[in-house]
Amino acid sequence: MPILRILKFPDPRLNEESVLIEEFGEELKTLASDMIETMVAAPGVGLAAPQVGKLLRMIVIERAVPSEEDPQPPSDPMALVNPEIMSAEGSQVFNEGCLSVEDFQSEVTRYMKVEVEAQDLDGNFFTMEAEGRMAVILQHEIDHLDGVLFLNHVNPLKRSMYTKSLLKRRKKGRD
Ligand code: NI
Repeated sequence: MPILRILKFPDPRLNEESVLIEEFGEELKTLASDMIETMVAAPGVGLAAPQVGKLLRMIVIERAVPSEEDPQPPSDPMALVNPEIMSAEGSQVFNEGCLSVEDFQSEVTRYMKVEVEAQDLDGNFFTMEAEGRMAVILQHEIDHLDGVLFLNHVNPLKRSMYTKSLLKRRKKGRD
C-alpha cells in the first residue's frame, strides 16, 4: 500500500469542492486504506481525500487519543464516506494544524458538539456523535470536502502574514 503525496497550501486543488461518492467498491476501499496509511505515517489525526488529490467526499480520522497514561495508544482509524454535519451546538477554541499547511498552527473557534451522518465503505449509513477534540477533527476534515482550510477561519491578518512568509521561503528555496 503506497503512502500518498499530500497536497500543500497554496495548491488550488485544496480549494475545490469534492463530489459525493456513489460507487462503493474495491477502489474506494483501497483509497481509504492508502489514506489511513498516509495519515498514520504523517503522523496526523485526520485526512480528507482532496488532500491527496482525489476530489471525493471521504475523510479518515484517528480515534486513538494519547493520554498521560498511554502516550502512544494503538492506532484506531476510521473512514467516513459522504460525511455531513446534521446538528451542532456549543463552541470551543482549539489550536489546529493541518497536514496541507506547513509550519503553521492557529486557534480556531469550532462547535463543541456535532452529530455527523456518513456512510461506511460498503455504503451503509450511520450517525456519529462527537465532542471536544473529536468534534474539531470532524469539522476540520469535513471542511476540506468543501474546499475550506482552517486558514479560512483564522484572522485575515494572521493568515496573510503566514502566506507571505511561506511564499518568501519557497522563493528562497528555488533560488
Ligand atoms: Ni487539514
